Amino acid sequence: MSVKRSIRKSLDSGIFAMSLATLAFASGASIAQSNSADIERGRYLATAGNCVSCHTTAGGAPFAGGRRFETEYGVIYSTNITPDTTTGIGAWTEQEFAAALRKGVRPNGEHLYPAFPYTAYTKLNDQDVSALYSYIKSLPPANAEAPKNELKFPYNQRWALRFWKMLYFDEGRFEPDPSQSAEWNRGAYLTNGLAHCGECHSPRNFLGGQSTADAMTGGELMDLVPGGFSRKWSAPNLTSAPNGLESWPLEELAAYLKTGRNEFTDTFGPMNEVIMNSTSQLTDADVRAMAVYFKGLPANAGKAPKTPSEAVVAEGSVLYDIHCGICHLPTGLSTEDEEGGATLAGNPVVQAEGPSSLINVILYGPERPNPPLPMRWREMPGFDDKLTDDEVAALATFLRTAWGNKAGPVSAADVAAQR
Ligand code: HEC
Ligand code: HEC
Ligand code: HEC
Repeated sequence: MSVKRSIRKSLDSGIFAMSLATLAFASGASIAQSNSADIERGRYLATAGNCVSCHTTAGGAPFAGGRRFETEYGVIYSTNITPDTTTGIGAWTEQEFAAALRKGVRPNGEHLYPAFPYTAYTKLNDQDVSALYSYIKSLPPANAEAPKNELKFPYNQRWALRFWKMLYFDEGRFEPDPSQSAEWNRGAYLTNGLAHCGECHSPRNFLGGQSTADAMTGGELMDLVPGGFSRKWSAPNLTSAPNGLESWPLEELAAYLKTGRNEFTDTFGPMNEVIMNSTSQLTDADVRAMAVYFKGLPANAGKAPKTPSEAVVAEGSVLYDIHCGICHLPTGLSTEDEEGGATLAGNPVVQAEGPSSLINVILYGPERPNPPLPMRWREMPGFDDKLTDDEVAALATFLRTAWGNKAGPVSAADVAAQR
């Protein structure tokens, strides 16, 4: 890489714009320094992209791959992205790495599965891809072969992904919106690119394709529940709709992403890794930019919910008073003292179109991040051995209509599917 190019890259980066390496010209030392600035910047970008969560198994070497993803189409494993030359990507050029990230193709022309969110990473600019490459190349190589995917026919045919891409993949870099602030644009770039929030929070059709019209109105995915089983989770609406983030002010959204907790709740479930491995490690300015972007999304409540039966709501209300009210209070609001629980009124998870995350919390309790945040309320127990499917369904249905909440009824079959 030429010194000029690496200096330009360092200058382009907000974080290292002041780096002294950019002031020293042409000496060998400055090349080494600007390379290390590139690696540092790449490390930050890899954190923003949360590469480590998907490319690492429990107890495995970081980035060595092999993490199992259960999907409707079968099981897929992440690959080794350390610079090992036989089992990793050590032999890849920067161009080949860029093509994987932004086009979803391997050096041998094979198409990659969109379980790898290149549908979002395609937005990345050249400098960021290059810094990511420098960082990945600086990792210790780990010799580890990813297990073979166990996908059903026809999903096990990589060539068929060509047609999927024609339908659902728009390759292309991020285009700033000149009518918005620099902060909003930074937030949009991070959110829709590296942070790939929409990969979970936007709905998909039966082939896993997403449309822009209902972006960020909520989606569903498979992930582990406490006990180690893979179950459905619903990711809530993140637009400013009443069943989304309307009740969360910008500062509270930023606090949640930065620290895993805010006035309303503590993180639990799939967001634990997103926050602990990624957003909590970003600069305050970048987290705030993402919050600015989300709070600017026009409200889109998604599909209108069905109205639940009054008898079921009444039954759920009684169960709530018996099992939940002691912590969540008759008001469904959190407290500042340790006697309370999370806010359920206006809560995005409670009102998500898919009820799976709400059911998971009731059955298994909210799984805390690792390492856990200091306790501020009493720990919520799981109710899987205390409540029947019908009771959990009635409770969930009640929560989804109480205190002005607006979401559809939950059935006993929905609950049974999460056991
Ligand atoms: C949501 C999970 C997820 C995240 C986040 C993720 N990856 Fe991956 N990645 C995968 C999976 C799964 C595959 C395997 C895809 C396949 O087999 O077609 C993969 C494949 C790849 C490949 C192709 C490797 C090969 O051997 O063909 C590269 C390169 C890669 N990822 C780099 C990255 C980088 C860099 C980041 C962070 C910026 C990242 N990934 C983030 C899941 C993820
Ligand atoms: C791997 C999938 C996934 C990704 C990626 C993801 N989310 Fe989530 N998110 C979820 C799920 C599932 C829930 C509901 C359960 C939970 O809170 O873990 C959720 C919940 C939330 C909530 C509501 C929390 C609450 O307790 O009310 C917010 C806010 C949120 N996500 C924001 C984001 C933002 C911002 C990003 C991008 C930086 C993001 N999410 C990326 C899956 C994801
Ligand atoms: C002993 C106190 C306690 C009891 C009893 C309790 N909860 Fe909780 N609940 C909490 C606390 C504390 C949290 C937040 C902790 C966290 O997210 O890590 C929480 C979180 C939740 C959440 C997730 C909110 C969000 O989106 O962040 C839901 C939903 C919920 N509780 C519903 C219920 C229901 C329904 C019952 C009754 C079956 C119940 N809780 C009983 C204390 C309690």
